[in-house]
Amino acid sequence: MLGNVSNENKQEYATVPLVELRRQNAEFEDEFLSELRRILGSSQFILGKDVEDFEARLADYVGTRNAVGVSSGTDALLASLIALGIGSGDEVLVPAFTFFATAGVVSRVGATPVFTDVCPVCFNMDLDDLQDKLTEKTAAVIPVHLFGQAAEMEEIKQIAGQQGVPVIEDCAQAIGARHRGQQVGSIGTLGCFSFFPTKNLSGFGDAGAITTNDDDLAETLRRVRNHGMHPKYEHGMIGGNFRIDAMQAALLKVKLPHLDRWLAQRAAHAGFYDAELGTLPGVVRAEEVDCCCLARQQARLGEQGAALVLPVAYQHNHPTWNQYTIRVLQPGARDRLVDFLRSHGVGCEIYYPKSLDQQPCFAALCPQKPLPVSHLLAEQCLSLPIFPELEPGELRRVVDVLSSWLEQSA
Ligand SMILES: Cc1ncc(COP(=O)(O)O)c(C=O)c1O
Repeated sequence: MLGNVSNENKQEYATVPLVELRRQNAEFEDEFLSELRRILGSSQFILGKDVEDFEARLADYVGTRNAVGVSSGTDALLASLIALGIGSGDEVLVPAFTFFATAGVVSRVGATPVFTDVCPVCFNMDLDDLQDKLTEKTAAVIPVHLFGQAAEMEEIKQIAGQQGVPVIEDCAQAIGARHRGQQVGSIGTLGCFSFFPTKNLSGFGDAGAITTNDDDLAETLRRVRNHGMHPKYEHGMIGGNFRIDAMQAALLKVKLPHLDRWLAQRAAHAGFYDAELGTLPGVVRAEEVDCCCLARQQARLGEQGAALVLPVAYQHNHPTWNQYTIRVLQPGARDRLVDFLRSHGVGCEIYYPKSLDQQPCFAALCPQKPLPVSHLLAEQCLSLPIFPELEPGELRRVVDVLSSWLEQSA
């Protein structure tokens, strides 16, 4: 137990970074350097055999017939919309509580993002709101497996199926996550992955991929990522430069076989937080208030005198813990906790301080129906360090600093 932590004695405690990539990459330095030398020697810097090899291994991991490497997770989503022919006059249903890219790409193809609210337990697309907002203008649905927790894919596919529209899984934060035994990225029409350095399979700059069981769509995506070109200098459609570099593919190929080990470490850290934080006064597990109705959930939390809610771990999901995100319930307390953690050397981040309908660039899309859960989560969510290489002492410190904050603010 940390006792009475104050700013004066913070120097006693070493810092705990939110993410530290060097620890993971150091293990593979020799392999990385030999891959880089090989690619330098070959001068095949873009697409080519390394990309094809990586795509084959990724498809095998996700369990799809195809994987198409692209330049980022954002471009994976953008290329998917282009390949599906989505554009002006179309509506695409996206959750309001996610990273900007999920909706930004919709506007970039000239379609309209329609924001659904999210569930206050798992933070993913609210199914009733999705059903309400499905119209004959809906051209696709993009569920996000936020923080590594899979969205309710059967219901989402069933709802999208009423209009016969594709489901594009945003798997940017969820490579390796399973939903009812199935890998994310293999359940919808397309799965879009990011290898941004802070993601679970972390690249060396920007990179991404799209997975699909639809061979024709995969072929179209291969054209879209290369200016819509096929054969050479023949452009039957308009695409872009969404190609993945050979260097990224070669280095990611080194890391992919270790992904499950890293996911297991993340899960163990989440288990430690659940066990240690879960017994502190004022801390409630999401399972204890597992109720998608916000008002009822708020009432239960009030009865319990709760200050923090821990993230849910559903039996039917196998989350990847890209983030361990707690809710800080008292108004204004989340931002005070951020200051407290940082002033005691504990890295943390707010994902996301605004829901997408609150972003100035989407103001013109209003009036849209209110999105109370998304707005509340933007005020309450806070993500703690959970990267695989965290040491036991660092995890302990996060718990101790939080415990001290709870004592102090009780
Ligand atoms: C949910 C979500 N979608 C899409 C993206 C975009 O991925 P990238 O940064 O690789 O373009 C991200 C990355 O932060 C994300 O978290």
